[in-house]
Amino acid sequence: MRVLVTGGAGYVGSHAAKWLAESGHHVVIVDSLAEGHRQAVGKLPLIEVNLHDHERIAAILKEHAIEAVMHFAAFAYVGVSVHEPATYYHNNVVGTLALLEAMRAAGVNRIVFSSTCATYGIPTRVPISEDHPQNPINPYGFTKLVIERALADYSHAYGLGYAALRYFNASGAAADGTIGEDHDPETHLIPLVLQVALGQREDVEIFGTDYPTPDGTCVRDYIHVDDLATAHLAAMEKLKPGTQMKLNLGTGRGVSVQEVVDICRAVTGHRIPTRVAPRREGDPPELVANALAAKRVLGWQAKYQEMRGIIESAWAWHGKHPSGYDD
Ligand code: UFG
Repeated sequence: MRVLVTGGAGYVGSHAAKWLAESGHHVVIVDSLAEGHRQAVGKLPLIEVNLHDHERIAAILKEHAIEAVMHFAAFAYVGVSVHEPATYYHNNVVGTLALLEAMRAAGVNRIVFSSTCATYGIPTRVPISEDHPQNPINPYGFTKLVIERALADYSHAYGLGYAALRYFNASGAAADGTIGEDHDPETHLIPLVLQVALGQREDVEIFGTDYPTPDGTCVRDYIHVDDLATAHLAAMEKLKPGTQMKLNLGTGRGVSVQEVVDICRAVTGHRIPTRVAPRREGDPPELVANALAAKRVLGWQAKYQEMRGIIESAWAWHGKHPSGYDD
């Protein structure tokens, strides 16, 4: 298929774009490069444009005869969204509505959308299945939920076919070591822990050791970016006009912050000092996916079931690119 990938220079988007191209699809990337990296797209065609410019996006969709859109472009820092909601609503909501307008103008009616487990808020039951109530506790989660709602309404009224894929914790790096995670500032656990192993930080803070979890630290469901990529492909290939898909993407396995640190120690051979810090505001104790629906609907399952493999792939990337991308 001929696919437009928005945010294809970002972390998850670049892995999906690479996977799409390697699977024989024709890929065109649009990215504002506000957060993305030119180097992350490799040799794939990249057009530097903001989604708010819907006339230009519509022209790109027509010019490249695009059949489906994978929409990754968004801001994704939960903490920042609390203090700068305007930026988040403008980029994630207004930008996506502009993209949907461009798609309508160009007659493109298939989209795979990056949603998040942050749309569930504090879970009342774990593992979390798709019918769990969606009550986000931060603006970031709300921006994604608003778009899930818009997609459902557009699907009903205009016959849009969509998949809203709710990721749990995206992690790891491409198996061939060419692309990986590079955020500025970095706030995610695994890269921060590996920065200690690289000698770039003295220690890593553990945000809370008094949670109601087996070892007192938060539990998350870490899903490899390449597994996210294959799920996107499977979803896109299943989309027809009017299809509505809402699926969790996780492994169904919970791993605690302490366990992440321990596995990083084993993988890197570094002792990785830690420091206990207060709980981080807005962190639910446990977020683990019930990912059975994705298996049933897409025939998809995460290949990286073991946390060690995910961390080994991240370590290979960070070890080779200690300062991330050159740009
Ligand atoms: N953590 C630490 N120390 C750190 C950084 C993180 O203890 O220095 C802990 C966090 O408190 C959390 C866990 O490690 O318990 C994972 O934290 P990340 O920041 O790596 O990931 P989050 O779970 O906060 O965020 C992820 C995605 C978001 C998404 C969110 C849903 O990055 O985009 O899951 O809750 F919205």
